[in-house]
Amino acid sequence: MRRVVITGLGAVTPLGIGVRRTWSRLLDGHCGVVSIKDKSPRFASLPSQIAGLVPEGKEHGAWNPKNWLSPGDERRMATFAQYAMVASEEALNDAEWHPKKAEELQATGVYMGSGIGSLDDVYDITIAFEKGGYRKVSPLFVPRLLINLAAGHVSMRYGFKGPNHAATTACTTGAHSIGDAARLIMFGDADVMIAGGAESCIHPLAIAGFARARSLATDWNDRPQLASRPFDKDRAGFVIGEGAGVVVLEELEHAKSRGARIYAEIKGYGLSSDAYHMTAPREDGEGPYLAMKHALRHAGIEPSAVDYINAHATSTTLGDAAENRAINNLLLGEHGKENASQINVSSTKGAIGHLLGAAGSVEAIFTVLALYSNTLPPTLNLDTPGNPPEDFKCNYIAKTPQQCQVNVALSNSFGFGGTNASLCFSKYR
Ligand SMILES: *[C@@H]1O[C@H](CO)[C@@H](O)[C@H](O)[C@H]1NC(C)=O
Ligand SMILES: *[C@@H]1O[C@H](CO)[C@@H](O)[C@H](O)[C@H]1NC(C)=O
Repeated sequence: MRRVVITGLGAVTPLGIGVRRTWSRLLDGHCGVVSIKDKSPRFASLPSQIAGLVPEGKEHGAWNPKNWLSPGDERRMATFAQYAMVASEEALNDAEWHPKKAEELQATGVYMGSGIGSLDDVYDITIAFEKGGYRKVSPLFVPRLLINLAAGHVSMRYGFKGPNHAATTACTTGAHSIGDAARLIMFGDADVMIAGGAESCIHPLAIAGFARARSLATDWNDRPQLASRPFDKDRAGFVIGEGAGVVVLEELEHAKSRGARIYAEIKGYGLSSDAYHMTAPREDGEGPYLAMKHALRHAGIEPSAVDYINAHATSTTLGDAAENRAINNLLLGEHGKENASQINVSSTKGAIGHLLGAAGSVEAIFTVLALYSNTLPPTLNLDTPGNPPEDFKCNYIAKTPQQCQVNVALSNSFGFGGTNASLCFSKYR
């Protein structure tokens, strides 16, 4: 089997533009969740008025599309695709992969998904069409709308002629993109894949929809930075976020032959389904249990060897509890650890909220950096693990990062529809 390593990272997140900026602010305990109630009267009328927004502005590390995109590209690309483009550029520069030869371009592909795509465009054009008819429909409507156009734009900018694909599996999108892209390399369809997820749907209609599904935190509108509190006993819903995470995946010999820096190896990828409910998890956490188990089986790694898990934990009462149960069932089972306090697990959603289709790829980047720098990123806002407290006995890396040798790590992602995935990374040796 061909081995696949990670050689480049790129991100746009509520903690800022760029992986290094995001990572250092994450470790320093910053939170990217802000109030959005003054952004439009519509937001102020909704039960949840907070979001993990990519910071905009002229300052260093803030989002200003003019810094990256021509006016034409800005018009052609919806915001989620713009984030994907900027994160891809960072990842490619980080990997120093700038192919020019035909065979190299043909061996490089793009796998970039989104959960929702451009709700703004659907909404605005629907209203324009209703009021003004055919002539009000922009010729760019369809290309801005289609989710696979993020991958399309990246391939067009760089001339990558390998596989071009997009997953859309709700909040598992980013993890599926990376896992599927790695398999394309393993199978020989490509030597290099630019893979990840992007999301930008902080629109009143999206928030209204998630609030109606009773998924969002609604009690923290005046204290946005405390709202996303994975594993905490007072957690009560997720905080919607936006951004993009992109990795450069590369076949091992290909990376070695060009002297590329190797962050980590992708050792395993597990997929499963709850087969249970549209939005609610099974209480016993069977879905995530199977996803993690398959990822470790594929990697050939025992549960006892897992040093860190970046949990999906979105700060919902049921979801965090089910995932916590799944982690305990797997890691304390046969070939597992002796007690729960030896399980190191955190959810970085405390700091950035839930980036939906981008969550899995941004969190995969955090997991890779945990391996690369032997640093466990913290779970922000975790005061008291629960409930009940006796079920929450792991080391959740509350509030501040912890240092330890990290050789093997998992990154979990679960989505509406009951789809569960887990990625297993290891230090490259
Ligand atoms: C968990 O993290 C702590 C550092 O906080 C470390 O001492 C311990 O070895 C880690 N456990 C595992 C299994 O890696
Ligand atoms: C598996 O994915 C489903 C999809 O919504 C999600 O609801 C569930 O949380 C995941 N399973 C668990 C128990 O976390």
